[in-house]
Amino acid sequence: RIVYVNGDFVPEEEARISVFDRGFLMSDGIYEVTSVLGGKLVDFPGHAARLERSLNEIAMPMPMEAEALLDLHRDLVARNGIEDGLVYLQVTRGNPQDRDFAFPPEGTPQSVVLFTQSKPGLADGAAARDGISVISVPDIRWGRRDIKTVQLLAPSMAKMAAKAAGADDAWMVEDGAVTEGSSNNAYIVKDGRIVTRQLGSEILAGITRAAVLRFAREAQMTVEERAFTIEEAQEADEAFITSATSFVTPVVQVDGATVGSGQPGPVARRLREIYLEESR
Ligand code: PDD
Repeated sequence: RIVYVNGDFVPEEEARISVFDRGFLMSDGIYEVTSVLGGKLVDFPGHAARLERSLNEIAMPMPMEAEALLDLHRDLVARNGIEDGLVYLQVTRGNPQDRDFAFPPEGTPQSVVLFTQSKPGLADGAAARDGISVISVPDIRWGRRDIKTVQLLAPSMAKMAAKAAGADDAWMVEDGAVTEGSSNNAYIVKDGRIVTRQLGSEILAGITRAAVLRFAREAQMTVEERAFTIEEAQEADEAFITSATSFVTPVVQVDGATVGSGQPGPVARRLREIYLEESR
């Protein structure tokens, strides 16, 4: 696999980053994941815009224009012959001479890394067909989840708790309400209304979320942006998640309770269909 690191396209074994890089030492960096379907990047402008916002929130500039980033994405997809999969992009505050809590001086070169992951059949896996199960875990993350930082230990631990419980994923709960999934946004459907948490510092503003809510409204579905509880999810007609890599994926079990019929519901199926249609 060819990866991109600070200006060069190199075989992955040859890519090098300093041990002093703040991304490595302090999770001082931002990332984006853009999916690739049929060789085509899905919603790149959305990911580029969120990258800029995230960087801005932690006082970092864009490492280059969005257009140049798009070229890098396309170049890497072509070099690695990616049909279905994703492009991972990470920008960190870079490589000061020594470890220090204070940021390095302005103008210190950032680290920019991109790599691809090939995922044949990304859009037609078992999860979409059968739905997934989730458990709830306390949301122990920091207070700025709207910033897509590479600080992913809490969601990794949530994912491991799910695996240990025999479930597919975890929904994180704070003050009695679901914030989001370990790496996705969470939704329920009750009496024809789609409910998903309102944007704020408690969750990441998913690029897939924005697209799916737009499609839902265009299809005259009712959307309620508000917090919901695990109990509501268990009593809902349907539940689902969205993210760049899962698109729209039905949730059929929440903390051991069957949601609705236990099968992927019509709203989730319809939204997935529309989303994939529009993305291809
Ligand atoms: N995760 N919420 C969290 C905490 C996420 O990590 C993600 C994405 C989302 C969905 O955002 P989007 O629709 O823009 O992908 C919501 C990516 C896919 C990841 O970490 O791999």
